[in-house]
Amino acid sequence: MEQNGHLPEVRDLCVDYLAENGTVRAVDHVSLTIDKGETLCLAGESGCGKSTLAFSIANLHKPPALIAGVEILFHREDIHGFDERRLRQFRWNETSLVFQSAMNCLNPVITIGEQICDVILAHQPVTVDEARERAAELLLTVGIHRNRLGDYPHQFSGGMRHRVVIAIALALNPRLVIMDEPTTTLDVVVEREIMSVLGNRNRLSALRFY
Ligand SMILES: Nc1ncnc2c1ncn2[C@@H]1O[C@H](COP(=O)(O)OP(=O)(O)OP(=O)(O)O)[C@@H](O)[C@H]1O
Ligand SMILES: [Mg+2]
Repeated sequence: MEQNGHLPEVRDLCVDYLAENGTVRAVDHVSLTIDKGETLCLAGESGCGKSTLAFSIANLHKPPALIAGVEILFHREDIHGFDERRLRQFRWNETSLVFQSAMNCLNPVITIGEQICDVILAHQPVTVDEARERAAELLLTVGIHRNRLGDYPHQFSGGMRHRVVIAIALALNPRLVIMDEPTTTLDVVVEREIMSVLGNRNRLSALRFY
């Protein structure tokens, strides 16, 4: 059944960091909506609150970050009203966040094939062979050949590691992918490939920060 509403719809979001010597407002009255299949790009200087906004929309913000009275709607549901079960589903199957410097989050002692398969096997009822096949397809969508599945992160360039992380973010077919500075290590050609990956998935919405 098709669900209605935007993915997400943010109304007047403010996020403060509470510190001993006062409060810093990192996100100040931000409103935005993204529709199905739409990519929204936001550019801003260092320290302007991009990562803070990304974390809040993914519902991953933690103290000292505090959200001041606001609604963040996902398919018309307020994400801050989610119970544990709904939150798990939201975080894994509906939204994924590519962290800033995400490529440093890859485990250095596990092959990238295994890392992609682990995500798929932990959340989807598929066999190991099916997960491997899916991992190979995902790598291909970010322009990396399947014969690299058995390689370790250090055997890839920075841009390639970044693309591996994007492949992992797409592994569970999320409805929304939030990419916090995804392109700093990507050259123009790769950036175009990534844009076309996002564009080819017509039910996928994206929010990208630069
Ligand atoms: N844990 C924290 N505690 C207190 N203040 C914080 C914390 N994290 C971020 N800030 C402040 O919030 C503001 C926004 O930070 P944020 O990381 O969202 O910026 P950004 O736009 O992502 O910057 P960059 O482009 O450098 O990644 C900054 O002034 C920063 O000092
Ligand atoms: Mg940032």
